[in-house]
Amino acid sequence: MLAISIKDVRKSYGKVQALDGVSFDIKQGEFFGLLGPNGAGKTTLISTMAGLSRPDSGTIEVMGHDVEKDFRIARRQLGVVPQELVFDPFFTVRETLRFQSGYFGLRQR
Ligand SMILES: Nc1ncnc2c1ncn2[C@@H]1O[C@H](COP(=O)(O)OP(=O)(O)OP(=O)(O)O)[C@@H](O)[C@H]1O
Ligand SMILES: [Mg+2]
Repeated sequence: MLAISIKDVRKSYGKVQALDGVSFDIKQGEFFGLLGPNGAGKTTLISTMAGLSRPDSGTIEVMGHDVEKDFRIARRQLGVVPQELVFDPFFTVRETLRFQSGYFGLRQR
């Protein structure tokens, strides 16, 4: 099974074509670096993989699960470490984990 499968993904913001038919696969166990100059569309692609943004067309599968049709399972298979600090610095690590896990309906430890 492929870890990630991206097929002909397109996304534009108004007149800016951020993703213009991106396709590639990443196998399980593979280390993959997505490189490109500023504005190449790396963050846009990762956001669409994580369900933070929707592609205009094309499909993305994470461990065989479509990120749109099967978003709950797909998101559970994926961990995103953001480029910038996105957590409230007043929370402890434990509080941050509790808070975030609440979004996923995890009430226990
Ligand atoms: N929310 C948005 N609204 C409008 N345009 C956007 C938005 N997000 C990204 N863009 C534009 O889409 C293109 C791709 O941007 P993106 O942030 O995906 O590139 P990147 O490869 O992550 O760049 P960087 O290396 O600077 O992080 C750029 O032209 C950017 O200005
Ligand atoms: Mg970026």
